[in-house]
Amino acid sequence: MKSECTLIVIKPDGIQRHLIGKIISRFEDKGFRVINLRFFIFSREQASEFYSVHKAKPFFEELVSFITSGPVIACLIEGNNAITAVRLMAGATKSFEAAPGTIRGDFGLGLTENLIHASDSPESFIKESGVIFNRT
Ligand code: CMP
Repeated sequence: MKSECTLIVIKPDGIQRHLIGKIISRFEDKGFRVINLRFFIFSREQASEFYSVHKAKPFFEELVSFITSGPVIACLIEGNNAITAVRLMAGATKSFEAAPGTIRGDFGLGLTENLIHASDSPESFIKESGVIFNRT
């Protein structure tokens, strides 16, 4: 058993489409624990820092505009191999290619609008959760 912590963010499309309960339930049903939760709107500065690894990418501006367009929910999730397992449950970045049974595969069709973010490594988790939970 490797108990670890990861971060998910339910993006503005997930909130607008009333999928909060369904998304969080999947992780709870799997056996993960929600150990912290925050409902908030990203500032542009905070979003740029959160997505700083994508700064040079052509979609960066669209990404920051989208993630700041409405409220999001950030959750800290704890359990066995949480980083890998939670990303598998989120599904492929391109929702239209995501496998059925995953969150993106079952609920979405978008790319920028892909319902959920999940940290991809322990380093990303520390950085991303710091941007959201250690600053206001
Ligand atoms: P996320 O897992 O939050 O990480 C970066 C986000 O950039 C990704 O989900 C998508 O929402 C968004 N994005 C937009 N365009 C692209 C693209 N061409 N390739 C990858 N990610 C993209």
